[in-house]
Amino acid sequence: MSEIDLSAIHSLAEFEPLARLVMDPGAFDYVAGGSWDEVSLAENEGAWRRRRLRPRVLVDVSRIDPGTTMLGQATAMPLAIAPMAAHGLAHPDAEVATARAAAAAGVPFILSTMSTCSMEEVAHASPDGVRWFQLYSQAEPARTRELVQRAEAAGYGAIVLTVDLPLLGYRERDRRSGFELTGPHGNFAAPGSSATHGGGIHADGFAQLKQQLVTGLSWDDLATIRSWSSLPLVLKGIMTAEDAQLAAEHGVDAIVASNHGARQLDRVQAPTDVLESIVAAVDGRVEVWVDGGVRRGHDIAIARALGARGVLLGRPILWALAAGGGAGIERALAIVREEFEIAMALLGTPTPDDIGPSHVVLEALRSER
Ligand SMILES: Cc1cc2nc3c(=O)[nH]c(=O)nc-3n(C[C@H](O)[C@H](O)[C@H](O)COP(=O)(O)O)c2cc1C
Repeated sequence: MSEIDLSAIHSLAEFEPLARLVMDPGAFDYVAGGSWDEVSLAENEGAWRRRRLRPRVLVDVSRIDPGTTMLGQATAMPLAIAPMAAHGLAHPDAEVATARAAAAAGVPFILSTMSTCSMEEVAHASPDGVRWFQLYSQAEPARTRELVQRAEAAGYGAIVLTVDLPLLGYRERDRRSGFELTGPHGNFAAPGSSATHGGGIHADGFAQLKQQLVTGLSWDDLATIRSWSSLPLVLKGIMTAEDAQLAAEHGVDAIVASNHGARQLDRVQAPTDVLESIVAAVDGRVEVWVDGGVRRGHDIAIARALGARGVLLGRPILWALAAGGGAGIERALAIVREEFEIAMALLGTPTPDDIGPSHVVLEALRSER
């Protein structure tokens, strides 16, 4: 494909058809797809669209500052890049390009355990960016511990433990296409090698993920995982007030209201729809983030109004990477930032802290307020 003119792109949605042109069809479907009938996949985006904003006027919005903190780390806007496996499926520069683009835009980047590049390679390429490490527990606890300790040594600022994948969801698109997550998996050295990074094994990544079942991870394991480093612990994949309450009792630092981009259990609610109950359950004890279907700057404003500290952005990042490499991601982040800034100004909220529950309403209730 000839070089695309990134300045001609004006919404995150425009990256997806461009990615489809350059990606292998099986890989495209792996990224785009959800599980089973993809009921929750459609709902994730729909839940943001069902909210209506309540703008206040005659507020001085001559200075708009979208900056805030997540986990105490400065971010240019209330957004971080969601952990996603295998950025190499989208572009040969893989996570190195994503991490650099995130650093250039001033937003945190969460590296997946199943990344193409190793965590050390990414740290080396983007030494100054805020980087967090997403952890999938491994069959052998010693391997999990090694991943945590390598992440700390390589300057990752938090462990984001994914708790909604005891095994892989029923992903029909991948079953039909025969897609396999073959790697390289940069965080896993080739068999027989003592190197902790570089190269990485080529293996069935789905089989690797299935091993999590072996570990039978439970609430009792959190203290052990925590004891392996001094890093803050984030739980990703909380969908109920009950589990949010338990997470807070277990002293985690943040939780992500997430249904894994609708790739795990289908027919679950959209994270947007459970956000308020989760925020109420933790009652300020831990930060709450949300992901799934964030596609516009408005969505960040709605997330803040519903009580989230920030959002994670998933698939559009991989589409942008496929379409334009690191420059594509920088363009995507610039678009969403500008959309958020304009939405903040029109909402009468010059900073993210000014956005509150009174700025949003469910569409169904809008005539009642
Ligand atoms: C291709 C792909 C790979 C993913 N891999 C991971 C992963 O390795 N670890 C994880 O915690 N979540 C993973 N996720 C889920 C994302 O972190 C995030 O929850 C989801 O994509 C957000 O929804 P969105 O894509 O609609 O923005 C993946 C999602 C996609 C699309």
